[in-house]
Amino acid sequence: MTAVRKAVLPVAGLGTRVLPGTKTTPKELLNVVDRPILSYIVEEAREAGIEHIVFVTGRSKGAIEDYFDHQVELEAQLEAKGKTDVLEAVRRDLPKAGEMSFTRQMAPLGLGHAVWCARDIVGNEPFAVLLPDVIVDSAPGALAQLMRAYDLVGGNIIGVEEVPASETHKYGIIDPERTEGRMSAMKGMVEKPAQGTAPSNMSIAGRYILQPEIFDILESQPRGAGGEIQLTDAMATLMGSQRFTAYQYEGITHDCGDKIGLLKANVALALKRPDLGDAARAALQGLI
Ligand code: G1P
Repeated sequence: MTAVRKAVLPVAGLGTRVLPGTKTTPKELLNVVDRPILSYIVEEAREAGIEHIVFVTGRSKGAIEDYFDHQVELEAQLEAKGKTDVLEAVRRDLPKAGEMSFTRQMAPLGLGHAVWCARDIVGNEPFAVLLPDVIVDSAPGALAQLMRAYDLVGGNIIGVEEVPASETHKYGIIDPERTEGRMSAMKGMVEKPAQGTAPSNMSIAGRYILQPEIFDILESQPRGAGGEIQLTDAMATLMGSQRFTAYQYEGITHDCGDKIGLLKANVALALKRPDLGDAARAALQGLI
């Protein structure tokens, strides 16, 4: 089975649910506790064995590329002042030379189109997709869990989680055939089904392992839900010729593209931190 070495992170989204903060700051760089959302996503990818990350960026997202490079003056200052802890934190996400690529999605045509923009950099090998709106709090990380499933059954793996029936219209929803433990064989999937028509309450949660044939399908994928080129529609087509397995990962999902989701992520992850948990708890109790 071919190893999954590369991950695609679509980071061109405008962050409309958390404006105006995202007017000049990419939503992926908003802090959760004391580091950007992207820092958690990149950590999850690396933990799962990913060697190369492809960012699909867009206009006004240049700060993302800068975040993953040295800030020479800042680092020199911190070094001169002996602030080694902070220096280490500033450097923790830096790639080794050549470990990251950046390409631009030049028009907001949807997630499927964003993934397709990475085709040349990914090439002819399986790859992961991580949606950076979603931080999954779990050990091992969600992608590492999907990798284990991939090692067992190969093909395409979709991370899923249960959502209330009233929420299914906001997500891609799978149609499971047989479920064994956390894995389900699938017979279909649909992007943002109209209320009351969802085939299940298992949502596509933002972590995927895909085979490169998806790119050929995406190339001529017509627009779907919301007038956008949908990854879910292309996956549904690929399912006609390849195996798809849904994997219900273990962990708590935080939708950081949403005001309350972002707040919840900050609170939950601060409370868990050995160095900040007690102070965070005291501060929150003081408020409530
Ligand atoms: C995207 C996907 C959808 C998935 C969701 C998870 O939708 O198209 O299948 O369920 O992410 O967050 P979006 O949230 O970009 O509309």
